[in-house]
Amino acid sequence: MTHTLLRGRLLTFLRAPQELGDTGSYLYESDGGLLIEDGLILACGAYDKVSAQAPADVVAVDHRPHLIMPGFIDTHLHFPQMQVIASYAANLLEWLNTYTFPEECRFVESAHAARIATHFYDELVRHGTTTAVAYCSVHKTSADAFFAEALRRNMRMVGGKVMMDRNAPQGLLDTPQMGYDETRQIIAEWHGKGRCHVAITPRFAITSTPAQMEATQALAREFPDLHIQTHLSENHDEIKFTCELYPEAIDYTDIYARYGLLGDKTLFGHCIHLSDREADAMSETGSVAVHCPTSNLFLGSGLFPLKALARRDKPVRIGVATDIGGGSSYSMLRTMDEAYKIQQLLGERLNPLESYYHMTLGNARSLSLAERIGTLDVGSDADIVVLNAAATPAMALKMEVVKTLPEELFVLQTMGDDRAIVETYVAGVAAKSTI
Ligand code: GUN
Ligand code: ZN
Repeated sequence: MTHTLLRGRLLTFLRAPQELGDTGSYLYESDGGLLIEDGLILACGAYDKVSAQAPADVVAVDHRPHLIMPGFIDTHLHFPQMQVIASYAANLLEWLNTYTFPEECRFVESAHAARIATHFYDELVRHGTTTAVAYCSVHKTSADAFFAEALRRNMRMVGGKVMMDRNAPQGLLDTPQMGYDETRQIIAEWHGKGRCHVAITPRFAITSTPAQMEATQALAREFPDLHIQTHLSENHDEIKFTCELYPEAIDYTDIYARYGLLGDKTLFGHCIHLSDREADAMSETGSVAVHCPTSNLFLGSGLFPLKALARRDKPVRIGVATDIGGGSSYSMLRTMDEAYKIQQLLGERLNPLESYYHMTLGNARSLSLAERIGTLDVGSDADIVVLNAAATPAMALKMEVVKTLPEELFVLQTMGDDRAIVETYVAGVAAKSTI
């Protein structure tokens, strides 16, 4: 058995913070210890107490004065879009057709998919992200490369081959039967292997015929425990085109509802322009709206009403994500900085405790995986990030005047990026310093 003992300032959430002074929503240890045994957290608390439980041959790492937190979770991004980032387009549909679809065609080549997979996981780890929920391309080769690399690195990852059978280039189309068969094969080969989770992944209603939506429904019925991921209500032209393709549906959300795709394992990317009726349907089914702030700003899609959705009588569950490559940063710190600014524009406040809750326990809950990830609780996977709020000269100068934990978190969120990530532990093993 291998034991590792980390020392530093510990921060982990217990529940969603209500306001900035809500000290009961988190656990903070100014001189904390975290004991890891074979990839799991064995003890968490005051250093003196935890170190007393460590065996004599423990490997001790002193991270003082840095902050030790659960690894960040990214609940929506696209593995085949690493080379789509920073593509100059007027809006979502132009961006998809001009850059994204042609780039995804390249993932039919397994050598290309394997090469990008290496870079993909390197970037996640570099940015402190230990679990991500990814769309692969339509090709089975891309899902195979994605999961092979997750397995090699022992990371808890969720992913799926996109199902898409219309409104895209020929090289990017499957058929209802192919989408169904290949998704089943990917489930059989990868789901539950290591820490891999397969998600049923119809790209969005524009690129799936009704026949393919039926195939998706069949998969959802056969595998009720699997995550489902798709896109919903991102852009006004997208919404209009989608509703024209499914005239029988009363709105965009109703299309997915008609195929039985709403539910507490379903992640809907974006959800910017939902009507009250749609938000009610999301709430009643426990569906998750995934906020992708850098993408929404980059593509000019709109301002996600995070606070308004969360405080409804029928609240909507919320996740946060980068949406690479519509999104412009792999960093969950940069992501929450933009989320903050979007709420500012909407006249709302998003306090730093809420931001760090969302990146960790909040996202773990949105995936129904809080038993395993998102906290430093005993028994959880030892997926951990170590943060330095004085990582750059400008941050160090600002930190001279910072007095409280929320202030420090806010500096990290406002000024931080991969340079603020001192180390990323994956199942208890230092992964960033060994890239
Ligand atoms: N809607 C359908 N596909 C995509 C995609 O790849 N990115 C974004 N942002 N929206 C989509
Ligand atoms: Zn997306």
